[in-house]
Amino acid sequence: MLRLENISKSFDGVPVLKDISLEIEKGEIVSILGPSGSGKTTLLNLILGLTDVDGGRIVYDGNDLTKTPMEERGFNIVFQDYALFPHLNAYKNITYGLRNKPDISSKEEVEELIDLLGLREHLDKRIDQLSGGQKQRVALARTMVMKPKILLLDEPLSALDGVIKESIKDRIKTIAKEYNLTTIIVTHDPEEALTLSDRVLIVNEGAISQYGRPEEIISRPGNSFVKEFILNQLEIKRNNIFSLFDGPLVSEPAWQAG
Ligand SMILES: Nc1ncnc2c1ncn2[C@@H]1O[C@H](COP(=O)(O)OP(=O)(O)O)[C@@H](O)[C@H]1O
Ligand SMILES: [Mg+2]
Repeated sequence: MLRLENISKSFDGVPVLKDISLEIEKGEIVSILGPSGSGKTTLLNLILGLTDVDGGRIVYDGNDLTKTPMEERGFNIVFQDYALFPHLNAYKNITYGLRNKPDISSKEEVEELIDLLGLREHLDKRIDQLSGGQKQRVALARTMVMKPKILLLDEPLSALDGVIKESIKDRIKTIAKEYNLTTIIVTHDPEEALTLSDRVLIVNEGAISQYGRPEEIISRPGNSFVKEFILNQLEIKRNNIFSLFDGPLVSEPAWQAG
């Protein structure tokens, strides 16, 4: 279990995160949802260890990681811009992290991920020959072969649309379930957050606005920001969303307690 205790962070004296406390269970998919500039990426970077907190604690399975360097935390991220190596082909990007740590994933495990993510026919292509969705899948595979304890994704779907977006969404869910992998996804899109995750953390101006299961947030928005932020953007898709909540997504969460 990941626990954040009273996390705060400022840049140049300006508070960007204020007193963030929450728990995320093993295997749970949690979305961090909020408008642009609300501190989502900063929160992800603090969990990853790329950025230091000013105050508060980050605790994973009872161990205080607040001062632990990024490499030793064992978490891994897919950055918003994917940060792939342009001079290497897709396969070499996927296996890059294994060159010094070949024991982390076997050849069979790498092959399984390649098939799970539908990348088989793209392995020899250079990064600039790939579409947005293909790049996203390569970035996901590259992170997954390292078997992170927590998978962090920054706006994984924002550059994608339509069928591709749905397919990546399904793949993220499949991977999270198959590996019982704690997954934290940053997004500014309420529909994405509410359909993809077990729980949604809504942030506004660096503070937690509401943290709950999708159906709770829809049926009992905690404040006017949640109401307006969610409802404004969901108005058109509302019927669609409610019908999704009658399906197995809500009654069969991707995580199991313990
Ligand atoms: N390294 C940094 N230095 C100074 N300000 C930053 C830095 N990173 C983020 N910020 C500021 O913190 C705020 C939150 O940014 P960010 O976490 O990227 O928001 P989001 O991901 O929700 O769009 C913004 O006002 C941004 O300009
Ligand atoms: Mg961001």
